[in-house]
Amino acid sequence: MEPNITLPADDSEPPRRHAGSAARPGCANTAIARAVIQTTALTKRYPGGVTALDALTVRVEPGITGLVGANGAGKSTLIKILLGLLQPTSGQAWVLGGDCLHDAERIRMLTGYMPEHDCLPPDVTATEFVTHLGRMSGLPATAAKERAAESLRHVGLYEERYRQIGTYSTGMKQRVKLAQALVGDPRLLLLDEPTVGLDPAGRNSMLELISIVVASHLLGEIERICDHLVAIDGGRLLRADTMTSMTQASQVLLIEVDEGSELLLAELGQRGLEPRPYQRALLVRLEGDGTYDTVRDAVADLGLPLNRLEQRRRRVEELFRDEQAQDDQELGRETTEASHVG
Ligand SMILES: Nc1ncnc2c1ncn2[C@@H]1O[C@H](COP(=O)(O)OP(=O)(O)OP(=O)(O)O)[C@@H](O)[C@H]1O
Ligand SMILES: [Mg+2]
Repeated sequence: MEPNITLPADDSEPPRRHAGSAARPGCANTAIARAVIQTTALTKRYPGGVTALDALTVRVEPGITGLVGANGAGKSTLIKILLGLLQPTSGQAWVLGGDCLHDAERIRMLTGYMPEHDCLPPDVTATEFVTHLGRMSGLPATAAKERAAESLRHVGLYEERYRQIGTYSTGMKQRVKLAQALVGDPRLLLLDEPTVGLDPAGRNSMLELISIVVASHLLGEIERICDHLVAIDGGRLLRADTMTSMTQASQVLLIEVDEGSELLLAELGQRGLEPRPYQRALLVRLEGDGTYDTVRDAVADLGLPLNRLEQRRRRVEELFRDEQAQDDQELGRETTEASHVG
């Protein structure tokens, strides 16, 4: 665990930054200045030879961006480099227009960071801890107290805030970690696996935030809350795109009947389609409106209860699932689109 979640500042710092009023770290390149995050050929090799990031070039626009990848894909490494907590082996990274090597302190001033591992002192109360970090991020004493109370309330820990953190459940600790990331009123939040250990209600409150990069391998959640997605695999960029185009409708029709699925499978085959069972449904390649007509007629002639007939949307998960990709290949071009490297 990086202990370094505090935001360096002292009482001599100018009054707190607030959204829109903060000075940006110096940056001549306007394209970089406009991106929330930009990396160019970013590479990180750890001692021992592990390449955690491999020439990663990616740009993150304002909004909520999900950073997804399997365990070990390089998500946490990327976040730590963005915060200047780790130095890249080569390549460059900018956050909010600032260079991650030279403007790291300023970047940390503007950013709230929720680390993935447990990093909380057990023998202080949540109020004390979050207030302390508010002070560290430059808030005056009274404002730090108020902001700490607000942040803790926001994460649903208001009643318990005077208890020592050591007595908290895993989910409560996770919320304290979020509260400390929020306390400085950051322009950017970097949340590394923010929902680990939370119950459904805690997860929901976790997901209602401003401008976020969520690092997660919990793809269902990413799909639910994000506008953009950056997918990495073995430290390399797999794809960066809007969530809508990631999950756009495919050229595959999904048909679900409450009963008689096998009958329908045979019937559709006889009518010239090439249906394939998929979970409780059938999939056929969509060849225009005629496919809908054929399916409708087959279902009607067999008198089957039709439950669902829709163009299948890809799930973000499928970016990572070889088996699924192979299945999709049987249906044609869908796979080549889904595995496109952005
Ligand atoms: N300090 C380190 N020393 C050596 N190797 C490391 C170090 N930190 C990470 N690695 C390796 O770098 C790779 C990327 O790790 P990283 O923690 O960035 O992945 P991640 O995507 O955050 O994974 P997870 O989903 O498990 O949190 C892994 O192979 C990991 O073992
Ligand atoms: Mg990680």
